[in-house]
Amino acid sequence: MGFYRRYVFPRLCDLILRQPRVSALRQSLLANVFGRVLEVGFGTGLNLLHYPAGLQYLTTIDPSNDMHALARHRLKRSHIKVNHFSLSGESMPFPDQSFDHVVSTFTLCSIPNVVQALQEIHRVMKTGGRFWLLEHGLSPDASVQKWQHRLNRWHAAWAQGCQLDRPMRALVQALPFREVQIKEFYLPPGPRYLTYLYQGMAVK
Ligand SMILES: C[S@@+](CC[C@H](N)C(=O)[O-])C[C@H]1O[C@@H](n2cnc3c(N)ncnc32)[C@H](O)[C@@H]1O
Repeated sequence: MGFYRRYVFPRLCDLILRQPRVSALRQSLLANVFGRVLEVGFGTGLNLLHYPAGLQYLTTIDPSNDMHALARHRLKRSHIKVNHFSLSGESMPFPDQSFDHVVSTFTLCSIPNVVQALQEIHRVMKTGGRFWLLEHGLSPDASVQKWQHRLNRWHAAWAQGCQLDRPMRALVQALPFREVQIKEFYLPPGPRYLTYLYQGMAVK
């Protein structure tokens, strides 16, 4: 299991999440990110290519050094100076109101205490700041939901804790954001239990 967690899963995750149709969504999500930016769950650094050309600095966190090992070649090639912290989103060492923008892509599914992490995200955002998210989660279709609940434990076992059935919109709306704009859609051709996506932003 150690070999799988260390070497196989990071490469598998990178392969799945770097497909062109996913990259196009990253590009549109990140087009208007600027200022002091925090990325939660930096993973293998797949968003680096998609930040606007004007962004010079980025703070990132991720508890997995195995994922981060694959980010190194992207970090070397990027013009963005990244300050990376190997830690979890549930407890961040940043003062209140530190960041203009916070980014999370395909990460809220994997954070064990996602409610606490969202509270932290909200805390470290400046008033008027934006939280940009691109996540998979609970489908509104009963037939898909049934499989999301059924497969959840099996999926979490091979995907390092990733949950299939988190209601992303409701989780974000539970925080005192001033405005929440989220689109929901399936991203074919993958299985519908895994490709129901939430893309959008919340303003503090
Ligand atoms: C499916 S990967 C997505 C990586 C990257 N965000 C992307 O879009 O390619 C999920 C990431 O969430 C990270 N993660 C897991 N638990 C976390 C936590 N408690 N806080 C922050 N990130 C976490 C994992 O280490 C992994 O890098």
